[in-house]
Amino acid sequence: MNIIKLGGSIVTEKDSYRRINIRLLRKLCDVLSSNDEKKILIHGAGSFGHILALKHGLEKPGPLAEKEGAISKVMSDVLALDSAVIEELNRKGVRAVSIPPHAIYGGNKPDFKIVKILLRKGFVPVLYGDILISGDRYRIISGDEIALDLSRQFRPDSVVFVTDVDGLYDRDPKTNKSAKFIPILSSKEINVIDTGKDATGSMAGKMERIKKMVLYTNRVVILNGYRPDRLQNFLNGIKTRSTVIR
Ligand code: IPE
Repeated sequence: MNIIKLGGSIVTEKDSYRRINIRLLRKLCDVLSSNDEKKILIHGAGSFGHILALKHGLEKPGPLAEKEGAISKVMSDVLALDSAVIEELNRKGVRAVSIPPHAIYGGNKPDFKIVKILLRKGFVPVLYGDILISGDRYRIISGDEIALDLSRQFRPDSVVFVTDVDGLYDRDPKTNKSAKFIPILSSKEINVIDTGKDATGSMAGKMERIKKMVLYTNRVVILNGYRPDRLQNFLNGIKTRSTVIR
């Protein structure tokens, strides 16, 4: 069983509010439908989540008071994206079933019973970056965090991050011309990688999560979704450009 996360920068156009990258999404759905190994899919929120979340100051957890309108709008937006992803998957013959994370995370601890049932019956569970509400507070849960929780529970063969970069480099390739691509890495070596912090520190956060994930899976793979053939190759067991972390 594999866990595959389609990043928000792959399924959506990151800077255009609520715009789906439909051609790429369709190609990736084609690839996913051609492989009938058991899998759990996760997708990010991209421009269906981050733009409004940032505008309304929802990026950090906080009290619900006065934020309810913005929270329900963001939750409705990410659900709309999820419906579109599910529809495309179904159109290609993937028996995808949506599991809204806010409904199975009782605050913090997820109850994955329904994921287990769906997997057993041959469905492909689909989860996504969402907002959780617990007590008087809300918090955004990223698809990466869900991938970690699912890994702990289901011990997948691989966790694959379909992103907008080829993988990891020893330095930030945007600012260092001599940055070297890293095809394979042990989790112990993660610390030495200069991930080049972005505004939200999300790459650094991702690497911290990946370090934990490798305890529960044989490999974590980062590859470029703008090249759907690479995901195809990976799923077919063919060597392809990617970073594999063990
Ligand atoms: C973010 O999910 C969820 C919301 C902003 C509500 P992710 O963190 O998984 O999304 P991407 O992959 O960065 O777009």
